[in-house]
Amino acid sequence: MSVAQYKDSFAFNAAVNEFYIDSARKENHTKPAAAMQYSTAGQSRDITLTSPLKSAENSANEEALKKLRDYKINNCTKCGLSKERNLIVFGEGDADSDLMFIGEAPGADEDKTGRPFIGKAGQLLTKIIESINLKREDVYIANIIKCRPPGNRNPEQNEIENCSPFLREQIDIIKPKIICTLGKFSTMFIFNEINNAAAGGDNIEFEKIGSHRGKIYNYKNIKVIPTFHPSYLLRNPSAKKDVWEDMKLIRVLLSEYI
Ligand code: URA
Repeated sequence: MSVAQYKDSFAFNAAVNEFYIDSARKENHTKPAAAMQYSTAGQSRDITLTSPLKSAENSANEEALKKLRDYKINNCTKCGLSKERNLIVFGEGDADSDLMFIGEAPGADEDKTGRPFIGKAGQLLTKIIESINLKREDVYIANIIKCRPPGNRNPEQNEIENCSPFLREQIDIIKPKIICTLGKFSTMFIFNEINNAAAGGDNIEFEKIGSHRGKIYNYKNIKVIPTFHPSYLLRNPSAKKDVWEDMKLIRVLLSEYI
C-alpha cells in the first residue's frame, strides 16, 4: 500500500479519529497535514505499509526473555518495592519486534495483573500504537521499573539502578531497531546509557521531553525516539498532536527496515 493509499484508507482514518482528532477538535487544532511524508535523508519518499515486523515463531528471543523472567526477575528482592508489590510486571509483546516502547513503572492495574500499560494510560498507548496501523502484540512494551512504586510515586535512583539491568537485558535480547521512550525516566535512562558508552565523551543532557521529542538519538545502533508519556497526555491532551508526529516518524523509520 502506498502512502497515498494508506492515507485514504479506513484504517488510517479510524486510527487518526480515535487517537488524534477526538481531542484535537476539542482544542481547535487542525487535522494533521498529509502524513507519512517524513524522510531521514532529506527527501520524502513513499512507504509501503505491509507489516514492518519480523515474524516471531516461538523464537530464541522468547526463550531468552522467559529465562530472564523466570530465573532472574521473578523472585527479585533487590529493592524495597518487592515488599509491597503484588505482581512483577516484566513486559510483554513480540520478542522479535523492531519496535519497543519503554515506560516508567507499573501502576495499580499493572501491579494487579502483571501486565504493562493496561490502565487508562495503557489504553491510550494501545490507541497510539494502533494509530500507525500496528497492533499492541506487534511491539514489545516494558518499563524501567518492574514493581509498582507505592502511590505511583516517581521511581527513586536506587530503584532505577537495581532494576535497570533487567531492562538492559531485555533490550539486548530483543534488539529492536527503534525504541520509543515514554516520558522523562525512560528517556533519562537511555541518555545515561548513551553517555556511559560514549568513548568520545558524548554527553546528552536531559532537559525536558518537549526539547527531545521529534529528534532521533542513537543507542547501540538503535534509533531512540523520545515522546510524551501517555499519562502526561491524559492530563495534557493538546500534546497528542506532538505524539502523533512522533508516531509518524516511527512509522517511516520502520518502513526502512521492511
Ligand atoms: N505507566 C508506565 O510507565 N508503565 C505502565 O506499565 C503503566 C503506566
